[in-house]
Amino acid sequence: MNPATQKKALITGITGQDGSYLAEYLLGLGYEVHGLVRRVALEQPAHRLSRLRGIRNQIQIHAASLESYASIFHVLSKHQFDECYHLAAQSFVGESFIDGFSTMTANISGTHYVLAALRELQPSAKFYFAGSSEMFGNVRETPQRESTPFHPRSPYGISKVAGFHLTTNYREAYGMFCASGILFNHESPRRGFEFVTRKITEGVARIKAGMAKELKLGNLDAKRDWGHARDYVRAMHLILQQPSSDDYVVATGEAHSVREFCQLAFAEAGLDYRDWVKADPTFYRPAEVDLLLGDASKARSVLGWRPTTDFQSLVKEMVHSDLELIGSEGSKRESVTA
Ligand code: NAP
Ligand code: GDD
Repeated sequence: MNPATQKKALITGITGQDGSYLAEYLLGLGYEVHGLVRRVALEQPAHRLSRLRGIRNQIQIHAASLESYASIFHVLSKHQFDECYHLAAQSFVGESFIDGFSTMTANISGTHYVLAALRELQPSAKFYFAGSSEMFGNVRETPQRESTPFHPRSPYGISKVAGFHLTTNYREAYGMFCASGILFNHESPRRGFEFVTRKITEGVARIKAGMAKELKLGNLDAKRDWGHARDYVRAMHLILQQPSSDDYVVATGEAHSVREFCQLAFAEAGLDYRDWVKADPTFYRPAEVDLLLGDASKARSVLGWRPTTDFQSLVKEMVHSDLELIGSEGSKRESVTA
């Protein structure tokens, strides 16, 4: 790759599900990829950089925190970027009800810090904000599109609405290329264990291996528009390749309930979810988002984006990945005790 024409991208939140897929995708396109990580990640690389295992030697990593403007400013003062994908956030809705303050600080001030440092040091870099369907919350229309009014139902959702408006404001006030993707739920075998899809697929694998006797879940009737993270990072990249910055809903256009996810996931392992799933009010949220269903017509027509993985294939991939993972943990344990 010619260094003069090679594009440079910065990914905040590179250690997360989306960050790791996006880094791989951009490397495949010939980008020089840099990532911001918390300093603690450098101290525990085996655990905290595990999603980057396959590409660790091909990316450059810099320590910075969403809580520190100085640390972000420092990295941006040393390296010039063409594109900045701001994915870092406290991303678990449930946790945002427990500690709304740190969610707000990381997600709102963190976004503001990245935008302000870019404006100061490299205003021509293109900026992507990881907006969320949680911004629609108590939905005013179905399906939800770019024009649907926001009604967030959690501190997390509120923080994403604020980040979205900050991004628009930098576009309008300073003429910067600042765009938001309004992404509906997307999952993968790299999903964090606290999110319901991964909790279910890991639960299936543990039950199948005889390591658990039940799976406790909250609201089985909530419906989500679930896609595959690998498809969604392609949309992020396309959003920054447009001639001007704009906002896009990214979704599959199909909604399924948590119950349907359970049904399919347990069936994939030859089990009936009704024998294993137990309702536990601990996992109910103080304010629930009952249904999210996206209309991605704009992303389809303007970006040419389409998802390639359907719901059934997503569930299957996640279950088989966890069956394999738990199976190999089990056999490691056996060989240690043998
Ligand atoms: P994720 O797996 O939870 O990753 C979050 C990333 O943010 C991790 O790299 C994490 O670093 C980093 N981070 C969290 N707090 C931080 C802090 N205080 N300072 C620095 N880094 C911090 O989330 P994801 O699923 O990849 O989602 C990526 C982004 O898209 C998030 O902004 C999320 O809110 C948004 N989003 C996700 C979805 C979805 O369905 N996945 C849908 C819409 C929007 P550590 O590894 O050190 O914790
Ligand atoms: N986590 C979890 N655990 N959720 C449960 C459980 C449980 O035991 N039981 C039922 N649910 C329900 C939740 O109440 C919610 O309605 C649904 O399952 C999905 O929950 P999560 O998987 O935690 O995801 P989320 O929809 O709240 O948020 C995710 O998607 C957003 C986009 O809409 C996250 O990735 C956010 O970061 C993202 O913005």
